[in-house]
Amino acid sequence: MSTTASPMKIVVVGHVDHGKSTLVGRVLHETGALPEGKVEYVKDVCDKRGMPFEWAFVMDALQAERDQGITIDTAQIRFRTEARPYVIIDAPGHKEFLKNMISGAASAEAAVLVIDAHEGVQEQSRRHGYLLHLLGLRQIAVAVNKMDLVDFGEARFEEVKAEIVAYLNSIGVQPTHVIPVAARGGANIATNAAETPWYTGPSVLGALDGFAPSKPANDLALRLPVQDVYKFDERRIIAGRIESGRLKVGDTLVFAPTGKSARIASIESWGGDRVAAVAAGAGQSVGITLDEQIFVERGQIASLAEDGPSLSHTLKARLFWLGREALKVGNRYKLKLATAEHVVEVTAIERVIDVEDLANHQGAEVGRNAVAEVLFRAKTPIAYDSFIANPRLGRFVLVENYDIVGGGVIAEVEGERLDHKSANITVVHHKVDAEGRALANGHRGGVVWLTGLSGAGKSTISMEVERQLFLKGWQVTVLDGDNVRHGLCSDLGFSPEDRAENIRRVGETAHLFAEAGMLVITAFISPYRSDRDRVRGIRPDAFHEVHVATTLEECERRDPKGLYRKARGGGIVEFTGITAPYEPPLVPELSLPTDGRSVDESVAELLRYIERTFALSTREQAVGWGL
Ligand code: ADX
Repeated sequence: MSTTASPMKIVVVGHVDHGKSTLVGRVLHETGALPEGKVEYVKDVCDKRGMPFEWAFVMDALQAERDQGITIDTAQIRFRTEARPYVIIDAPGHKEFLKNMISGAASAEAAVLVIDAHEGVQEQSRRHGYLLHLLGLRQIAVAVNKMDLVDFGEARFEEVKAEIVAYLNSIGVQPTHVIPVAARGGANIATNAAETPWYTGPSVLGALDGFAPSKPANDLALRLPVQDVYKFDERRIIAGRIESGRLKVGDTLVFAPTGKSARIASIESWGGDRVAAVAAGAGQSVGITLDEQIFVERGQIASLAEDGPSLSHTLKARLFWLGREALKVGNRYKLKLATAEHVVEVTAIERVIDVEDLANHQGAEVGRNAVAEVLFRAKTPIAYDSFIANPRLGRFVLVENYDIVGGGVIAEVEGERLDHKSANITVVHHKVDAEGRALANGHRGGVVWLTGLSGAGKSTISMEVERQLFLKGWQVTVLDGDNVRHGLCSDLGFSPEDRAENIRRVGETAHLFAEAGMLVITAFISPYRSDRDRVRGIRPDAFHEVHVATTLEECERRDPKGLYRKARGGGIVEFTGITAPYEPPLVPELSLPTDGRSVDESVAELLRYIERTFALSTREQAVGWGL
């Protein structure tokens, strides 16, 4: 057996009176984990005071030392069997315990639930059973303790067993073993007891030794959350920390949620000395180059094709709430998962658990320090794993106004899974191709994306350019912000996430038209660089960004719709340029400064750019027609 294995983390839950400390004390004793002379010392003290010896006193004595910081390892209780080392995760109270567990700071791999054979399943046992459900544990040994008080009777054991199994099953928990135990005397703790000849299962330690350790991070599916994309001249380096799994040069990476894929051309380890590597694994920070320029941005998650994360707009989570204000249905928070950030809305609170007494009830809100099972919905698809499948991608924090207000883990995968949807979708190929269309039209299709402040002149310039191109026989159309917001995007407002969705829809639509051979001019403020970059990513070679670079002063002076005045007066929230940001393009294909220029001048310049870029030359037409 390996001696270098990392310890298996277990939790022991149960009512104090049901013998939780006794069981732990006995386990430590049986495995020789107690400090030399400790038991004798406590027995001595008991004798002197005329009290019966209790294993719990030994635990109390250890705890007292820990509190004073006398023992070296103050945080955790450790023991070891022949099979492997163990550590019992414990915390002074439910609150801290739950906070650690739910936030994923400490994650147990197995649990022992202690129940009193004499008292049977009580409300308290149910609540502790519920803890196991909250923690999502799968490897559970139930110890039916104090069997000595019921004369090691099989019938009583079966009764208690049936009761607890029924309850656990009702909350979706399947105990692995139910063991008759007398912790005080040590029956069925380390070895099978003579008093229970009718019991054929393992002892408590036998059950623990039979549990499977969680897989090392390297053996889990590859998850590389993208931290940043660095551009060096033509090259793009995708930087991130490998949370789990491994990758090597030549592997095909798929990026969630876009589903775009490309092969790894090179791996450079990040930081210190950047040496090229051929492979890397969990825990390493890497910089990767791809063999194709696909659109990748911070927050995406790279995985291998055959084993990607789940993708969903809805999440079922167990969370610990820290916010001063209660969490309520309908509230929105920023959810951070790996490097991604999503705005989520609370759509349901399924259960609220009181951390003091573990009682659970239905509730319309979750107060500070409570634990709850909650459903979230996001506008953008979230790539994630369940906490059980991959702890690193299965936990998140919630942020409100820059403060962390909660943390949690993602329960079993629920709801719609986008990857299932797209799994059944294949690309249908057209029989008319881009060249054929371009030849027929005399120009290529493409997207000319105008961005700039409200009142910059985007619509005015586009409509005139459209008219002139149309008169020349071009297949041309304009998608305009104010128009689209009456139809396709009538459900969207002006928050950053609504604008992102507005631009995403318009971007997809524009590219569809472009693929049909049309020259599409779009007129949207599109204030966020990342939103525009995402549209560029749909088909980088067909996307041309034009900055209608009118200054704020000039736009405000023009104020064609009176909106600036209204915004200055506080009548419009999040108005671009006033109370919401505008991020100008860094390297647009074309910049049109309109201050001090006539509309005609700007129109002429854009027309020249479009004709130069999209019109087929006589030569191209001749070759195309086979002349
Ligand atoms: S974008 O930011 O999502 O690209 P879009 O171009 O569709 O905006 O719509 C901008 C138009 O909506 C403006 O020209 C203006 O008429 C109107 N509008 C209404 N409220 C706002 C606001 N808060 N910020 C900017 N434009 C607004």
